[in-house]
Amino acid sequence: MALGHPHIHLGKVGSTNDRARELAQAGAPHGTMVSALVQTAGRGRQGRAWTNPAGVMAQSFVLRRADCTPELLPIAAAVATARVCGDEAKIKWPNDIWVDAGMPPRKVAGILIESRMPADWFVVGIGLNVAVDPADLGDAAARAGTLGQPASSMPVWRRRLVKELDRALALPADQVLGEWRERDGLFGKELVWDSGEGVAAGVDDEGHLLVRGADGAFQSLVAGEVHLQPLVP
Ligand code: BTN
Repeated sequence: MALGHPHIHLGKVGSTNDRARELAQAGAPHGTMVSALVQTAGRGRQGRAWTNPAGVMAQSFVLRRADCTPELLPIAAAVATARVCGDEAKIKWPNDIWVDAGMPPRKVAGILIESRMPADWFVVGIGLNVAVDPADLGDAAARAGTLGQPASSMPVWRRRLVKELDRALALPADQVLGEWRERDGLFGKELVWDSGEGVAAGVDDEGHLLVRGADGAFQSLVAGEVHLQPLVP
């Protein structure tokens, strides 16, 4: 079944990820897409809220384990979203998209991937600032970017996203990792995270972030959040 079919489009919803999860649990097929004009309880990674007035393009996809490679889902979703955002778009591990890598960098899209073991489904939720004015994004305003496109063009951008996600999910692992690495916005940058600090050194073949500590030793970070030094969330 192709991505984006069936497509359920809602005016207003709490979270498209929550709605997609309900549909997944009820047996929705691989590729089902739930989109909304406005989310009133949008969710981000690490338990954060995702502010979603009109102008943010929000959609969540139901993917079935049998039809995708789950280990590299965050990598593939980031590559797809970055390609929609343009040649200059960078990825902040694991899958934030920056359009302006200045200081602070401007985040234009975020991705939230959820599942519940041992279920055979994943929900890939993508929020992309297509038409929103960053000033309308509350606490995120200072570090948010936008594609600055007319709201009327949202269906076109959504079709691009579906096409790119379809493509990225079908790529062999080495190619999708290669494309991710070409857009690595953290490479060589000084980072700080929960339990340490070091310099970003790319991703390994599982998509884990490699960091080099002051002692020269490498370690890989599997999940969580890293921040640029000086501290940028
Ligand atoms: C992040 O940057 O922390 C991830 C943000 C993910 C936002 C998207 S918008 C569509 C989907 N529905 C949600 O509630 N969250 C994701």
